[in-house]
Amino acid sequence: MVTTNDTARSDVPKPTVRPVNPRFSSGPCAKPPSFTLESLADAPLGRSHRAGVGKAKLAEAIDLTRDILGVPDNYRIGIVPASDTGAFEMAMWSLLGARPAEMVAWESFGAGWVTDVVKQLKIDAQVHTADYGQIVDMTALNYDNDVCFTWNGTTSGVRMPNGDMIPADRAGLTLCDATSAAFAQDLPWDRLDVTTFSWQKVMGGEAAHGMLILSPRAVERLESYIPAWPMPKIFRLTKGGKLIEGIFRGETINTPSMLAVEDYLHALKWGQTVGGLTGLQARADANAQMIFDFCDANNWIANLAEDPATRSNTSVCLKFTDDRITDGAAFAKAVAKRLESEDVALDIGAYRDAPAGLRIWCGATVETADIKAMLPWLAWAFHTEIKT
Ligand SMILES: Cc1ncc(COP(=O)(O)O)c(C=O)c1O
Repeated sequence: MVTTNDTARSDVPKPTVRPVNPRFSSGPCAKPPSFTLESLADAPLGRSHRAGVGKAKLAEAIDLTRDILGVPDNYRIGIVPASDTGAFEMAMWSLLGARPAEMVAWESFGAGWVTDVVKQLKIDAQVHTADYGQIVDMTALNYDNDVCFTWNGTTSGVRMPNGDMIPADRAGLTLCDATSAAFAQDLPWDRLDVTTFSWQKVMGGEAAHGMLILSPRAVERLESYIPAWPMPKIFRLTKGGKLIEGIFRGETINTPSMLAVEDYLHALKWGQTVGGLTGLQARADANAQMIFDFCDANNWIANLAEDPATRSNTSVCLKFTDDRITDGAAFAKAVAKRLESEDVALDIGAYRDAPAGLRIWCGATVETADIKAMLPWLAWAFHTEIKT
C-alpha cells in the first residue's frame, strides 16, 4: 500500500479525486456505464438456445451488430465458439491453403496467427513483420494471395490508419482480426472478406463467443474449396459443399451462454443510446486524445506508436522515456502497482510480450472523466517512483 510519505518524496502532490471506475484493462474491458447485474434479468436462463426465445435473442444480437457496424446486407454474421481466437482460427483453418498467404504482424496477436499458418497449417506464406510501435507497409503485399492481419494491434497500440492500401479489386481474400477495433474504428467492409471480434473488447461484453463476418467472396471460397486437413466440428462452416446458413441466423454450432448473449445485447443497446457507431467511436477518440495530450505535455512518457496516424484509440500503449530509468520493466511494473494499490487504474501493465510500459484501454465503455481523473495519478506515481 502506498503511504502519505510518497507525497513528500514526489514534487507532485497526491491527487484527491479518483476515477469512478478504475477499470482500464484491455480485455475483458470495462462494462458499459449503464451495466448492472439487473441488466441481465431478461436472459432466458435454463431455456434451450434452440427454443424460440433463445433463437430470437441470438438473431437480435446478429441484427444489432449489423445495424451498428453498418455491415452490408450481403455479408454473413455468425456467432461462433471461443471468442475472437475461435472466430479467427475457424476462418484460417477453413479458408486458407487455396492460395499462398501473406501473413502480417506488428505485435503479439498477429504473430500468433503467423505461427498457426506457418508451423501448424504449413501453408506457403510470405511473412511481413514490423517491430512494436511500427506497422507493416500494407501497400507492399501481394493481394493475389490471402492476407491475414490484425486491424488494431492490441499489445502495441498500433492500428491501420485506414484500408486504402487494400485493393477493392483483389484475387485473394483478406482475413482481419478486428477484435480491438470493431465499434471504435472504421472498418471498410469492401476491403475485408473475413472480420472477427469478440464481445469483451470495445462493447465491454463477455469473452465466451466470437463474431465471424464473411463477405460473399469468403462464402464462395468456403463452398468451392476443401482444405487438405481434417476439420473439427467446432470449425465446420459447410456441409455437403454448402455454407451452413443457420449459423448466420443464430443457430450456433454448439451451446452458447445465453447470459453472455443477454450481456452483449445490453451493450449493443447501450451503444445505440450513445449515438451508435459514430458515438462509440467519438467516445474512444476523446479518451485516447486525452492521453495523447498528456504525452505531449509530459516529456517522460510517450506513445509506443511512432506514426501519429497509426496511434490506436482503444489500446493506447505508452513507454517511459526518462533517462534516469535503468530497469524499464521494473519501473513500469512499480508504477502500475502503485496505481492499482490506490485503486485508480487496474490492469494497465503492458502485455507480457510487449516492450515495458503501460497500456490504457480507451474503448467506448470507458468514461472520459475517468481517464481525466486517472492521469494526475499517473503523473504522481511516475514522480514518486522516479525518486525511490
Ligand atoms: C488482436 C487480438 N486478437 C486476438 C485476441 C484474443 O481474443 P480472445 O481472448 O477474445 O479470443 C486478442 C485479445 O486481447 C487481441 O487483442
